Amino acid sequence: MIFKYLKKYWFFCLIAPLFMVGEVAMDLIQPDLMGNIVDNGVLKNNITLVLDVGLKMIVLVLFGGLCGMLCGVFANLAAQQFGNDLRKDLFSRIMGLSFQQTDKISTGSLVTRLTNDVTQVQNMVMMAVRGFVRNTVMFAGGIFMLYKQSHHFALIAACGFPFVAVFVTFFLKKSAPMFAIVQKKLDGINNVMQEDVAGARVVKAYVKEEHELNRFDDANKDLCKVNLKVQTLLAFMGPCMNIVLNVCIVIVILVGGLTVKTGGDMSPGRIMAAITYLAQILHGIMFMANIFQTFTRAKASADRISEVLECPEIIFDGLYNEEPEQKGKIEFKNVSFAYPETSGNNVLEDISFTVEPGETLAIIGSTGCGKTSLVNLIPRFYDVTKGEVLIDGVNVKDYKLKQLRDKIAVVLQKAELYSRPIEANIRWGKRTATPQEIKNAAEISQADNFICDTEFGYHTMVSEGGHSLSGGQKQRISISRAILKNSEILIFDDSTSALDLKTEAKLYEELNNKCPDITKIIIAQRIASIKGSDRIAVLDKGKIAALGTHKELLKTSEIYRDIYNSQLKEGSEEV
Ligand SMILES: Nc1ncnc2c1ncn2[C@@H]1O[C@H](COP(=O)(O)OP(=O)(O)O)[C@@H](O)[C@H]1O
Ligand SMILES: [Mg+2]
Repeated sequence: MIFKYLKKYWFFCLIAPLFMVGEVAMDLIQPDLMGNIVDNGVLKNNITLVLDVGLKMIVLVLFGGLCGMLCGVFANLAAQQFGNDLRKDLFSRIMGLSFQQTDKISTGSLVTRLTNDVTQVQNMVMMAVRGFVRNTVMFAGGIFMLYKQSHHFALIAACGFPFVAVFVTFFLKKSAPMFAIVQKKLDGINNVMQEDVAGARVVKAYVKEEHELNRFDDANKDLCKVNLKVQTLLAFMGPCMNIVLNVCIVIVILVGGLTVKTGGDMSPGRIMAAITYLAQILHGIMFMANIFQTFTRAKASADRISEVLECPEIIFDGLYNEEPEQKGKIEFKNVSFAYPETSGNNVLEDISFTVEPGETLAIIGSTGCGKTSLVNLIPRFYDVTKGEVLIDGVNVKDYKLKQLRDKIAVVLQKAELYSRPIEANIRWGKRTATPQEIKNAAEISQADNFICDTEFGYHTMVSEGGHSLSGGQKQRISISRAILKNSEILIFDDSTSALDLKTEAKLYEELNNKCPDITKIIIAQRIASIKGSDRIAVLDKGKIAALGTHKELLKTSEIYRDIYNSQLKEGSEEV
């Protein structure tokens, strides 16, 4: 499946081996010429022949070198561009994975696949168009040339092959399954690295450097252990092959020497050439074993890459092609939802409610009761298990995904900012926005003031992960981004939790004044934040326990009263 990426570079894949054949052919002619020099030049004192053949050898070496160089250039052109295309597609597929799919494959593993695994496959392509051809030709040509020197020599080599075959099969069979394990262990290291680099501040805050260092050390040792095991195993392969080679050489010398002594058809030059050919043949096999090793390794990597590339689309575009007249109505009809990996335990159970266009619905409930899960169903971050979610009267599954998500602006629970200027971070909401539009959005979200107070205003760089900003500032920039998007529906997932009540109240007031037509769903922890909403839903263990205005709920809902009272008791804050 991965090899379809090579198709585009078939020309390089074809021409590189051809040049390689040229190089090997030159290598194969050399020993024969050398034998000729020894037998007919040196032993017969014929200097002209020595010079003649010597010159020929130099020209051939140069030609061989040129072929080798060109082969390298073309092989690289194929392998590097192949890797490049593969990496690009893999990255694009990773970007396209649904939430459900990324829940399953860890970030570290995705990083390993995108980097190390692609490199392994790329190496294999390189090996295939260079090494594989080189060694096959070396092997076959070597046998032919050996046969030309003497049939007996070829027979000796033939006797050595079964031993070589047994060794190679044994070692490769043993090592193949270990390569998949090596890549898995690499995932382990990348996971720890990923978490600790991203969470470096938490590690420091809890003085857990040593603990994390140990965790990394364990993962590292794990990898080292498996690597050592494979490499130790493979280290035995070389010497085993060398033994076979040397035994063959000794027999060739013995047989050759005896033939010369008994006046048979043999010469020192030919024996010399035969030894070189034998070495070439056996080295050919040995390298071949290395190449197979690269192949087995690459196979493990290719499988891991394919696993991601072949991840099926699970969130499909719908067939709905029009634009509904209504703008901003949300309906949940008997919705139940379970995370796929949690074997059927419903996180949301039989949820039904309607939010009218322009209305503000607040959702409150203890942590883990399913608030985030509920709003995630609206832009189809996950799909419902049962029931249906409708926007403007159309099932969310019927919309084209882009059309659906264009209707919704979500401020996620964790404000994600990128290392770009503040302006660019907000502009994500609408690429074509004018500076004034951006400022307006920031004014609504109460971000304009603090942005203007910074040294470079809207051009102030946000450091990676938004670490240069306070939690409340990050939240307000994320909110500006969502407001700028100006979609029908605005969802705040606990997005103002880090703001003081005064700023928060101001934000909601501005939002209601300036964007009255937008339907808003606001998840919050504090009743003070939401008591002005049109309606409030109380979520409890995945069910809607009560739904109504603040006043109604105080009368009718015990859970709501409990939350209210507990927040009153906390004291300082006005509820
Ligand atoms: N990606 C996920 N995979 C599996 N379970 C999850 C996932 N996200 C949340 N949950 C579980 O679903 C429940 C509801 O979570 P969530 O909707 O995030 O709650 P809330 O936002 O109200 O705090 C929790 O028990 C949580 O453990
Ligand atoms: Mg949540």
